[in-house]
Amino acid sequence: MVSAKIAPSMLSSDFANLASEAQRMITFGADWLHMDIMDGHFVPNLTIGAPVIESLRKHTKAYLDCHLMVTNPLDYVEPMAKAGASGFTFHVEVSKDNWQELVHKIKSKDMRPGVALKPQTPVEEVYPLLDGENPVEMVLVMTVAPGFGGQKFMPEMMDKVRTLRDKYPSLDIEVDGGLGPSTIDMAAKAGANCIVAGSSVFGAPEPAQVISLLRKSVEQ
Ligand code: DX5
Ligand code: ZN
Repeated sequence: MVSAKIAPSMLSSDFANLASEAQRMITFGADWLHMDIMDGHFVPNLTIGAPVIESLRKHTKAYLDCHLMVTNPLDYVEPMAKAGASGFTFHVEVSKDNWQELVHKIKSKDMRPGVALKPQTPVEEVYPLLDGENPVEMVLVMTVAPGFGGQKFMPEMMDKVRTLRDKYPSLDIEVDGGLGPSTIDMAAKAGANCIVAGSSVFGAPEPAQVISLLRKSVEQ
């Protein structure tokens, strides 16, 4: 069985207090910290990059689950590794020609490679990255259009999760966007085990309760 990983999205945190926000989430029971890297080009928003990851790394040993919403992920491998990223998830839409090189480099820098799909991207597009000699170790199924926190969960994306879970029983399948107490059961039933949650965790009066509820749903 795959294990549950609850990953609060730090995009919803107070960036001015990132170290204490991260610490707070770990204390509340988070397994991973989800870091949204955006370049203002692949998505219409700009967030953080390697310098911020490097600063945060000095304050935490937590697994930093980095989601790269960038047009040229290859350019980010070296800086993100130096900064202390743990997972490096790139988008399949921008990596059709060089994913093999990308995966090889990510692994050679001791990061864990993952591949993400936008809502309009068919699930079949990630099969080559899972079936070859040098597979990625996680698939991130976007359940909102990438770029912003606080959007509405797209239940129709659960078909992708079910298809992946049937085909790859031990794969880490992450869902990202609009996850919270009212949507987690759909994702968990479909077979997702890594759960990103931004606004539902940071916006809750008691984030620890939300984290524990998300975990229970996945572990059921
Ligand atoms: C959106 C990001 C998400 C986002 C999720 O592009 O990839 O990680 O922070 O936020 P919520 O959980 O609020 O939808
Ligand atoms: Zn994300």
